[in-house]
Amino acid sequence: MAITKVGVLGCGLMGSGIAQVCAQAGHQTVVLEVDQKLLDKGLASIDKFLRGGVERGKLTAAERERTLGNLKGTTRLEDLADRDLIIEAVVENRDAKIEIFRKLDTICPPQTIFASNTSSLCITELAAATRRPARFLGLHFFNPVPLMKLVEVARTILTEETAFEDALAFVGTLQKTAIRTSDKTGFIVNRLLVPYILDAVRALEEGVGSIRDIDEAMKLGCGYPMGPLTLLDLVGLDTTYHIANVFFDEFRERRFACPALLRRMVLAGFHGRKSGKGFYDYGGATPVPNDFLVGGAR
Ligand code: CAA
Repeated sequence: MAITKVGVLGCGLMGSGIAQVCAQAGHQTVVLEVDQKLLDKGLASIDKFLRGGVERGKLTAAERERTLGNLKGTTRLEDLADRDLIIEAVVENRDAKIEIFRKLDTICPPQTIFASNTSSLCITELAAATRRPARFLGLHFFNPVPLMKLVEVARTILTEETAFEDALAFVGTLQKTAIRTSDKTGFIVNRLLVPYILDAVRALEEGVGSIRDIDEAMKLGCGYPMGPLTLLDLVGLDTTYHIANVFFDEFRERRFACPALLRRMVLAGFHGRKSGKGFYDYGGATPVPNDFLVGGAR
Protein backbone atom coordinates (compact mmCIF):
# COMPACT_ATOMS: atom_id res chain seq x y z
CA MET A 1 0.00 0.00 0.00
CA ALA A 2 1.47 3.38 -0.99
CA ILE A 3 1.08 5.84 1.84
CA THR A 4 0.05 9.30 0.63
CA LYS A 5 -2.30 10.62 3.34
CA VAL A 6 -0.71 11.07 6.74
CA GLY A 7 -2.11 12.15 10.09
CA VAL A 8 0.17 13.39 12.87
CA LEU A 9 -1.04 13.48 16.47
CA GLY A 10 0.54 16.37 18.37
CA CYS A 11 2.22 19.48 16.99
CA GLY A 12 4.85 19.96 19.69
CA LEU A 13 8.61 19.61 19.31
CA MET A 14 8.48 16.20 17.60
CA GLY A 15 5.01 16.31 16.04
CA SER A 16 5.63 19.60 14.25
CA GLY A 17 8.90 18.28 12.81
CA ILE A 18 7.27 15.03 11.70
CA ALA A 19 4.33 16.88 10.10
CA GLN A 20 6.79 19.19 8.33
CA VAL A 21 8.90 16.42 6.78
CA CYS A 22 5.79 14.49 5.68
CA ALA A 23 4.35 17.59 3.98
CA GLN A 24 7.75 18.45 2.52
CA ALA A 25 7.91 14.97 0.96
CA GLY A 26 4.60 15.64 -0.82
CA HIS A 27 2.26 13.73 1.48
CA GLN A 28 -1.14 15.25 2.26
CA THR A 29 -0.63 15.82 5.98
CA VAL A 30 -3.13 16.65 8.71
CA VAL A 31 -1.70 17.52 12.12
CA LEU A 32 -3.85 17.44 15.25
CA GLU A 33 -3.50 19.43 18.48
CA VAL A 34 -5.74 19.62 21.53
CA ASP A 35 -6.48 23.33 21.11
CA GLN A 36 -6.03 26.11 18.58
CA LYS A 37 -3.37 27.91 20.65
CA LEU A 38 -1.03 24.90 20.67
CA LEU A 39 -1.80 24.21 17.03
CA ASP A 40 -0.93 27.78 16.02
CA LYS A 41 2.31 27.57 18.02
CA GLY A 42 3.32 24.31 16.28
CA LEU A 43 2.42 25.56 12.81
CA ALA A 44 4.34 28.79 13.47
CA SER A 45 7.45 26.77 14.35
CA ILE A 46 7.14 24.86 11.05
CA ASP A 47 6.76 28.11 9.15
CA LYS A 48 9.80 29.55 10.94
CA PHE A 49 11.93 26.52 10.06
CA LEU A 50 10.86 26.62 6.41
CA ARG A 51 11.61 30.35 6.21
CA GLY A 52 15.03 29.66 7.71
CA GLY A 53 15.55 26.98 5.06
CA VAL A 54 14.74 29.44 2.26
CA GLU A 55 17.11 32.03 3.78
CA ARG A 56 19.88 29.41 3.94
CA GLY A 57 19.22 28.35 0.36
CA LYS A 58 18.19 24.84 1.47
CA LEU A 59 14.81 25.06 -0.26
CA THR A 60 13.10 27.43 -2.67
CA ALA A 61 10.22 29.74 -1.83
CA ALA A 62 8.05 27.58 -4.14
CA GLU A 63 8.99 24.42 -2.17
CA ARG A 64 8.06 26.21 1.03
CA GLU A 65 4.68 27.17 -0.43
CA ARG A 66 4.13 23.60 -1.65
CA THR A 67 4.96 22.21 1.79
CA LEU A 68 2.55 24.56 3.52
CA GLY A 69 -0.07 23.65 0.89
CA ASN A 70 0.29 19.97 1.83
CA LEU A 71 -0.21 20.72 5.51
CA LYS A 72 -3.46 21.22 7.38
CA GLY A 73 -3.87 21.77 11.11
CA THR A 74 -6.92 20.59 13.02
CA THR A 75 -8.29 20.15 16.52
CA ARG A 76 -10.92 17.60 15.36
CA LEU A 77 -10.08 13.90 15.48
CA GLU A 78 -12.65 13.23 12.71
CA ASP A 79 -10.40 15.07 10.22
CA LEU A 80 -8.05 12.07 10.41
CA ALA A 81 -10.68 9.56 9.27
CA ASP A 82 -9.30 9.01 5.75
CA ARG A 83 -5.57 8.69 6.60
CA ASP A 84 -3.34 5.85 5.33
CA LEU A 85 -0.94 6.32 8.24
CA ILE A 86 -1.27 7.91 11.67
CA ILE A 87 1.92 8.93 13.48
CA GLU A 88 1.40 9.66 17.16
CA ALA A 89 3.69 12.19 18.86
CA VAL A 90 1.67 13.27 21.89
CA VAL A 91 2.96 13.51 25.46
CA GLU A 92 5.16 10.56 26.54
CA ASN A 93 2.43 9.03 28.69
CA ARG A 94 1.02 5.53 28.23
CA ASP A 95 -2.58 6.37 29.19
CA ALA A 96 -2.72 9.50 27.01
CA LYS A 97 -1.45 7.53 24.00
CA ILE A 98 -3.82 4.63 24.55
CA GLU A 99 -6.77 7.00 24.91
CA ILE A 100 -6.17 8.75 21.59
CA PHE A 101 -5.40 5.50 19.71
CA ARG A 102 -8.61 3.92 21.04
CA LYS A 103 -10.66 6.87 19.83
CA LEU A 104 -9.02 6.82 16.40
CA ASP A 105 -9.51 3.08 16.15
CA THR A 106 -13.25 3.70 15.82
CA ILE A 107 -12.77 6.52 13.29
CA CYS A 108 -10.11 5.20 10.87
CA PRO A 109 -10.68 2.22 8.55
CA PRO A 110 -9.01 -1.10 9.50
CA GLN A 111 -6.25 -0.74 6.87
CA THR A 112 -4.89 2.52 8.35
CA ILE A 113 -1.49 1.90 9.89
CA PHE A 114 -1.03 3.27 13.41
CA ALA A 115 2.49 4.26 14.47
CA SER A 116 3.83 5.68 17.71
CA ASN A 117 6.88 7.93 17.95
CA THR A 118 7.40 6.86 21.56
CA SER A 119 10.99 6.87 22.81
CA SER A 120 10.49 4.43 25.62
CA LEU A 121 7.00 2.98 25.98
CA CYS A 122 6.05 -0.56 25.00
CA ILE A 123 4.64 -0.61 21.44
CA THR A 124 3.00 -4.00 22.04
CA GLU A 125 1.00 -2.56 24.93
CA LEU A 126 -0.24 0.35 22.79
CA ALA A 127 -1.01 -1.99 19.88
CA ALA A 128 -2.92 -4.43 22.07
CA ALA A 129 -5.19 -1.61 23.24
CA THR A 130 -6.53 -1.28 19.67
CA ARG A 131 -8.39 -3.65 17.33
CA ARG A 132 -5.55 -3.45 14.78
CA PRO A 133 -2.42 -4.79 16.51
CA ALA A 134 -1.22 -6.27 13.19
CA ARG A 135 -1.17 -2.79 11.65
CA PHE A 136 0.59 -1.10 14.55
CA LEU A 137 4.30 -0.30 14.85
CA GLY A 138 6.86 2.19 16.11
CA LEU A 139 8.22 5.04 13.94
CA HIS A 140 10.86 6.76 16.00
CA PHE A 141 12.15 10.11 14.73
CA PHE A 142 15.01 12.19 16.16
CA ASN A 143 15.21 15.77 17.29
CA PRO A 144 15.45 18.10 15.39
CA VAL A 145 13.33 16.04 13.01
CA PRO A 146 13.92 18.01 9.79
CA LEU A 147 17.72 17.70 10.21
CA MET A 148 18.19 14.20 11.62
CA LYS A 149 18.45 11.51 8.97
CA LEU A 150 17.37 8.42 10.91
CA VAL A 151 13.99 6.83 11.69
CA GLU A 152 13.81 3.61 13.70
CA VAL A 153 11.01 1.36 12.44
CA ALA A 154 10.03 -1.01 15.23
CA ARG A 155 7.80 -4.05 14.85
CA THR A 156 6.14 -6.08 17.55
CA ILE A 157 5.50 -9.83 17.43
CA LEU A 158 2.00 -8.91 16.21
CA THR A 159 2.98 -6.54 13.37
CA GLU A 160 2.22 -7.99 9.93
CA GLU A 161 4.96 -8.01 7.28
CA THR A 162 3.10 -5.77 4.80
CA ALA A 163 2.55 -3.00 7.36
CA PHE A 164 6.23 -3.15 8.34
CA GLU A 165 7.41 -3.02 4.72
CA ASP A 166 4.98 -0.16 3.91
CA ALA A 167 6.34 1.82 6.87
CA LEU A 168 9.95 1.22 5.78
CA ALA A 169 9.13 2.37 2.25
CA PHE A 170 7.32 5.43 3.64
CA VAL A 171 10.40 6.50 5.61
CA GLY A 172 12.37 6.32 2.35
CA THR A 173 10.00 8.87 0.79
CA LEU A 174 10.95 11.30 3.57
CA GLN A 175 14.61 11.21 2.40
CA LYS A 176 15.52 9.56 5.69
CA THR A 177 17.24 6.28 6.44
CA ALA A 178 15.08 3.62 8.07
CA ILE A 179 16.55 0.98 10.30
CA ARG A 180 14.68 -2.16 11.28
CA THR A 181 14.31 -2.83 14.95
CA SER A 182 11.91 -4.54 17.32
CA ASP A 183 9.81 -3.57 20.30
CA LYS A 184 12.55 -3.63 22.94
CA THR A 185 12.63 -0.67 25.33
CA GLY A 186 14.67 2.17 23.77
CA PHE A 187 15.14 0.36 20.44
CA ILE A 188 18.76 0.84 19.30
CA VAL A 189 19.52 4.54 19.68
CA ASN A 190 18.08 5.28 23.11
CA ARG A 191 19.34 2.00 24.54
CA LEU A 192 22.84 3.35 23.90
CA LEU A 193 22.22 7.10 24.18
CA VAL A 194 20.21 7.28 27.41
CA PRO A 195 22.83 5.66 29.73
CA TYR A 196 25.48 7.92 28.14
CA ILE A 197 23.46 11.08 28.84
CA LEU A 198 22.61 9.96 32.38
CA ASP A 199 26.29 9.18 33.03
CA ALA A 200 27.17 12.71 31.94
CA VAL A 201 24.88 14.04 34.70
CA ARG A 202 26.47 11.65 37.20
CA ALA A 203 29.94 12.81 36.09
CA LEU A 204 28.81 16.39 36.77
CA GLU A 205 27.39 15.43 40.18
CA GLU A 206 30.65 13.70 41.10
CA GLY A 207 32.78 16.69 40.10
CA VAL A 208 34.55 14.97 37.20
CA GLY A 209 34.22 18.16 35.18
CA SER A 210 32.20 21.34 34.79
CA ILE A 211 29.13 21.58 32.52
CA ARG A 212 31.17 23.28 29.82
CA ASP A 213 34.10 20.86 30.11
CA ILE A 214 31.95 17.70 29.98
CA ASP A 215 30.33 19.03 26.80
CA GLU A 216 33.62 20.13 25.26
CA ALA A 217 35.19 16.75 26.11
CA MET A 218 32.69 14.77 24.08
CA LYS A 219 32.56 17.30 21.24
CA LEU A 220 36.29 17.65 20.76
CA GLY A 221 37.41 14.27 22.08
CA CYS A 222 34.87 12.14 20.24
CA GLY A 223 33.66 14.39 17.44
CA TYR A 224 30.05 14.41 18.66
CA PRO A 225 28.06 17.34 17.20
CA MET A 226 27.02 18.53 20.66
CA GLY A 227 27.98 17.64 24.23
CA PRO A 228 25.69 15.39 26.34
CA LEU A 229 24.39 18.17 28.62
CA THR A 230 23.60 20.44 25.66
CA LEU A 231 21.85 17.47 24.08
CA LEU A 232 19.90 16.85 27.28
CA ASP A 233 18.73 20.46 27.19
CA LEU A 234 17.65 19.93 23.56
CA VAL A 235 15.76 16.68 24.17
CA GLY A 236 14.20 18.07 27.37
CA LEU A 237 15.02 17.17 30.96
CA ASP A 238 11.40 16.28 31.71
CA THR A 239 11.25 13.94 28.71
CA THR A 240 14.57 12.32 29.65
CA TYR A 241 13.40 11.93 33.25
CA HIS A 242 10.31 10.02 32.07
CA ILE A 243 12.41 7.91 29.69
CA ALA A 244 14.91 7.05 32.46
CA ASN A 245 12.10 5.95 34.77
CA VAL A 246 10.55 3.70 32.11
CA PHE A 247 13.98 2.22 31.26
CA PHE A 248 14.82 1.59 34.91
CA ASP A 249 11.47 -0.06 35.42
CA GLU A 250 12.21 -2.40 32.51
CA PHE A 251 15.90 -3.21 33.05
CA ARG A 252 16.49 -2.53 36.79
CA GLU A 253 20.07 -1.47 36.07
CA ARG A 254 21.83 1.50 37.67
CA ARG A 255 22.94 2.85 34.31
CA PHE A 256 19.30 3.61 33.50
CA ALA A 257 18.46 5.15 36.90
CA CYS A 258 17.63 8.85 36.98
CA PRO A 259 20.43 10.84 38.68
CA ALA A 260 19.31 12.82 41.75
CA LEU A 261 20.30 16.13 40.15
CA LEU A 262 18.21 15.51 37.04
CA ARG A 263 15.11 14.74 39.12
CA ARG A 264 15.57 17.89 41.18
CA MET A 265 16.09 20.06 38.12
CA VAL A 266 12.86 18.72 36.59
CA LEU A 267 10.98 19.39 39.84
CA ALA A 268 12.41 22.93 39.87
CA GLY A 269 11.16 23.59 36.33
CA PHE A 270 14.53 23.29 34.57
CA HIS A 271 13.24 21.48 31.48
CA GLY A 272 15.99 22.55 29.07
CA ARG A 273 15.79 24.83 26.06
CA LYS A 274 12.00 24.81 25.87
CA SER A 275 11.71 26.31 29.38
CA GLY A 276 14.66 28.68 28.89
CA LYS A 277 16.81 26.93 31.49
CA GLY A 278 18.44 23.57 31.98
CA PHE A 279 22.14 22.87 32.33
CA TYR A 280 22.49 26.17 30.48
CA ASP A 281 20.53 29.40 30.76
CA TYR A 282 19.02 30.45 27.44
CA GLY A 283 17.93 33.97 28.46
CA GLY A 284 20.77 35.79 26.66
CA ALA A 285 22.33 35.80 23.21
CA THR A 286 24.40 32.68 23.93
CA PRO A 287 23.73 29.86 26.42
CA VAL A 288 25.51 30.28 29.78
CA PRO A 289 26.25 27.19 31.95
CA ASN A 290 24.30 27.09 35.23
CA ASP A 291 27.39 26.29 37.31
CA PHE A 292 25.49 26.89 40.57
CA LEU A 293 23.69 23.54 40.03
CA VAL A 294 26.58 21.61 41.56
CA GLY A 295 27.94 24.31 43.85
CA GLY A 296 27.06 22.40 47.03
CA ALA A 297 25.69 24.22 50.10
CA ARG A 298 25.98 27.94 49.42
N1 CAA B 1 16.15 24.57 7.05
C1 CAA B 1 16.96 23.74 6.36
N2 CAA B 1 18.21 23.42 6.78
C2 CAA B 1 18.64 23.95 7.93
C3 CAA B 1 17.85 24.81 8.71
C4 CAA B 1 16.56 25.14 8.21
N3 CAA B 1 15.73 25.97 8.86
N4 CAA B 1 18.53 25.17 9.81
C5 CAA B 1 19.72 24.54 9.73
N5 CAA B 1 19.78 23.82 8.60
C6 CAA B 1 20.90 23.02 8.10
C7 CAA B 1 22.16 23.88 8.03
O1 CAA B 1 22.19 24.63 6.83
C8 CAA B 1 23.23 22.83 8.09
O2 CAA B 1 23.36 22.20 6.83
P1 CAA B 1 24.81 21.75 6.26
O3 CAA B 1 25.28 20.67 7.20
O4 CAA B 1 24.50 21.26 4.90
O5 CAA B 1 25.65 22.97 6.33
C9 CAA B 1 22.66 21.83 9.07
O6 CAA B 1 21.24 22.01 9.02
C10 CAA B 1 23.14 22.05 10.50
O7 CAA B 1 22.68 23.33 10.94
P2 CAA B 1 23.56 24.35 11.81
O8 CAA B 1 24.89 24.53 11.16
O9 CAA B 1 22.76 25.56 12.07
O10 CAA B 1 23.67 23.64 13.21
P3 CAA B 1 24.76 22.63 13.73
O11 CAA B 1 25.84 22.38 12.76
O12 CAA B 1 25.09 23.16 15.07
O13 CAA B 1 23.92 21.28 13.88
C11 CAA B 1 22.40 19.78 14.88
C12 CAA B 1 22.74 21.23 14.61
C13 CAA B 1 22.00 19.11 13.57
C14 CAA B 1 21.21 19.77 15.82
C15 CAA B 1 23.64 19.06 15.47
O14 CAA B 1 24.12 19.78 16.56
C16 CAA B 1 23.34 17.64 15.91
O15 CAA B 1 23.29 16.73 15.10
N6 CAA B 1 23.16 17.48 17.24
C17 CAA B 1 22.85 16.18 17.82
C18 CAA B 1 21.36 16.02 17.84
C19 CAA B 1 20.97 14.67 18.34
O16 CAA B 1 21.75 13.89 18.84
N7 CAA B 1 19.68 14.41 18.22
C20 CAA B 1 19.11 13.17 18.73
C21 CAA B 1 18.49 13.46 20.04
S1 CAA B 1 17.83 12.02 20.76
C22 CAA B 1 16.29 11.95 20.16
O17 CAA B 1 15.79 12.81 19.53
C23 CAA B 1 15.55 10.70 20.45
C24 CAA B 1 14.84 10.58 21.69
O18 CAA B 1 13.98 9.74 21.73
C25 CAA B 1 15.15 11.29 22.92
